[in-house]
Amino acid sequence: MKQKEILLFGASGQIGRNLIRKLAENNYKITAVTRNIHRTGYILKTQANPGYLELVELKNFEISKIEKLVKRSSICINLVGILYEKKKDEFKMIHSDFPTLLSKKASEFKLEKFIHLSALGIEEAKDSRYAKSKLEGENKIKQNFGKSIILKPSIVYSVDDKFTTSFMSLLSMLPIMPLYYNGRTKFTPIHVSDMVNIIFNIIESKENNLILECIGPEVITFKEIIIKLLKSIDKKRILLPLPLPFAKLTAKFLQLLPRPLLTEDQLKLLKYDNCKSGKYKNNYDLGYISKKKFEDEINKYSYNWKKGGQFANNSTIDNPK
Ligand SMILES: NC(=O)c1ccc[n+]([C@@H]2O[C@H](COP(=O)([O-])OP(=O)(O)OC[C@H]3O[C@@H](n4cnc5c(N)ncnc54)[C@H](OP(=O)(O)O)[C@@H]3O)[C@@H](O)[C@H]2O)c1
Repeated sequence: MKQKEILLFGASGQIGRNLIRKLAENNYKITAVTRNIHRTGYILKTQANPGYLELVELKNFEISKIEKLVKRSSICINLVGILYEKKKDEFKMIHSDFPTLLSKKASEFKLEKFIHLSALGIEEAKDSRYAKSKLEGENKIKQNFGKSIILKPSIVYSVDDKFTTSFMSLLSMLPIMPLYYNGRTKFTPIHVSDMVNIIFNIIESKENNLILECIGPEVITFKEIIIKLLKSIDKKRILLPLPLPFAKLTAKFLQLLPRPLLTEDQLKLLKYDNCKSGKYKNNYDLGYISKKKFEDEINKYSYNWKKGGQFANNSTIDNPK
């Protein structure tokens, strides 16, 4: 059977790596685009058998190279995204200008579909630059190419994420964990394997003009997430609701770190619930059911943060029911 050609931007990230494995298992041929093959090649190469995966290096969004890649593909998927800006207007460049270019090229070369990853809960967050740039990207894509599918996930988590793993590291070190907005913000975390199944189903389906919110099976507040993470790594910490002026002050300092733990822009975003809006369809409406529960999944990798690491006491093994 002839292999189907998928062009993947942002392939080395959490979703990208997992998606490559799923696609290769299902006989797709993937061209994975990355900014630096020397830095990410070793991760990417192990995700698929030889013949299923081609790695391409792309620096500074070079248009002629992008054109060549899009032209020879049937489906283009954009997973490029950032959580904070390292230079001025980087959100706009990454979340709006780049997907605008890709959707124009997808239209020009008559692709089967263009799949773009945006984010959930950004409509209300008008004061966040991240949200504004993601929303602007969505609008431009819709204008440029009718056969676009915009996926809007809540927090996507796994051992490869930058969310649960960062918080587990932080909770291991800090005696006190600040709670922003009293920890009341709601999330619908989705495990990366459920997210990848949605993307895979979209690729296989006839859908080619859709905005889809992607959510997990549970609604969990920020405070509940922290409590579940603490339980999972076997630690007890003081959870301290932080008044907004103090929260803003901490964000001002934390955003100066080389890999910021919290920025002022993220603090603004944290004010808004990250749940289905009802404005768009969600994965459940299409029958793509998220199966993985937050607590069950984090327990599979939290031993990395426990005393004893992989040899840490596992209560279910030590105390079988
Ligand atoms: N993870 C979540 O919780 C979540 C939630 C909502 C939405 N999303 C969206 O889903 C998409 C994929 O998420 P993910 O978790 O897989 O992201 P990720 O792990 O952060 O990976 C994103 C990829 O984007 C590329 N990238 C990063 N900075 C870049 C820059 N300055 N210029 C060009 N490329 C850059 C990188 O690819 P290379 O290094 O290979 O070039 C990176 O692997 C993103 O658009 C993200 O905004 C994610």
